[in-house]
Amino acid sequence: MPRNEDKQLLNDVLDLFSRRRSCHLGQYLYSDPDPANPADSVRGASHWAQMVAHEDAYYVPREEAALIQSHGHQIRPFLPDPVDVLDFGIGSDVAILSKSIPLLKSLDVRRYIPVDLCRTYLDDARRLVGEHLKTVPIDECQADYFDFKRPFEALSNPLIFMGGGNLYNLPLDPGAGSLKEKFTNVFSRALEHWRKMIGKGHLLITADENCDKASLLAAYDVASNQALVMSFFHRIRRDTSLQGLDTDGFRYLPIWNQDQACVVHTVMVTRPQILRHGEVALEINEDDHFAIDASFKLSEDESSALFHQTGNRLVTVVRGQGLRLALYLVEMRERSSQSEEGTVRQMGRYPSPLQTT
Ligand SMILES: C[S@@+](CC[C@H](N)C(=O)[O-])C[C@H]1O[C@@H](n2cnc3c(N)ncnc32)[C@H](O)[C@@H]1O
Repeated sequence: MPRNEDKQLLNDVLDLFSRRRSCHLGQYLYSDPDPANPADSVRGASHWAQMVAHEDAYYVPREEAALIQSHGHQIRPFLPDPVDVLDFGIGSDVAILSKSIPLLKSLDVRRYIPVDLCRTYLDDARRLVGEHLKTVPIDECQADYFDFKRPFEALSNPLIFMGGGNLYNLPLDPGAGSLKEKFTNVFSRALEHWRKMIGKGHLLITADENCDKASLLAAYDVASNQALVMSFFHRIRRDTSLQGLDTDGFRYLPIWNQDQACVVHTVMVTRPQILRHGEVALEINEDDHFAIDASFKLSEDESSALFHQTGNRLVTVVRGQGLRLALYLVEMRERSSQSEEGTVRQMGRYPSPLQTT
């Protein structure tokens, strides 16, 4: 049993292997090694950094960076000055250098607030933004962006930035419904949640509108992504008391689901295993598939409808020639306090029947 068991991870993993829930584990992929163990094989953060920097087929970060660097300034006229930028899910040093910093340079920024679960990336953000924008105060925050509870009243014209298609990789709800229905539920809830916290502000996201199966599968079926997902199993073994997990008994497999407009990040079992926790025993067999995460590829019309449904407004879309990625600027509008009643929900957290205390 690990010294500090990650109970939420354990519950989420038990939900996956007992098929109560799927496509809800993306947040665990970007992991830090244990600083006390130089040989730790939990290295999600560096595998992701590797993917962003060196996998040619993975076009998303390259196209996003090109778009922000050449066209990012086009959003400035739509924003009040100055803005406080909340960078939700900052990612690796490459993402910070190629996207966050060029974006910050194209705006009038009063304060920069990087928010991520991963310590490595926050340290990178503080160092790199500090070097490149010496006068902008940095107020980093190691937190789940769904639970982000800063006093937003103190913010000046908040602008939430979510790069890397983060908003299209939200953890899906359990229960019935198609993948897309579950995604649109959580997408709407996320917008509602942040709009409520901010009161009034803007959201800037990048969206991948590419639905070409061959290029999508080529983009995700790369060695670093395989390593990123495999590191997740090492994290389960390190941070939970789940017994019987064979960390080498899985293979990552991206699957394009045309009807649901998403790449389902799946693992296939290559060696049968019996997973045990307390009284629970879960048998998983060779060729069983489990969906860890999903990346949705919606059209502008679909995203725009979702913004509209949640009382937000798509202000402008910025595109670059030949790029499959687009930048969407969304205005988050204040609602009357009466219509707010009963809308506070907990984001991304679902109690499991196997919850340990
Ligand atoms: C797909 S990467 C994108 C990184 C970066 N924005 C980019 O453009 O490359 C997802 C990032 O979001 C972070 N992340 C995922 N879920 C999160 C959550 N619930 N709260 C805070 N950070 C989260 C991960 O640690 C990682 O840095």
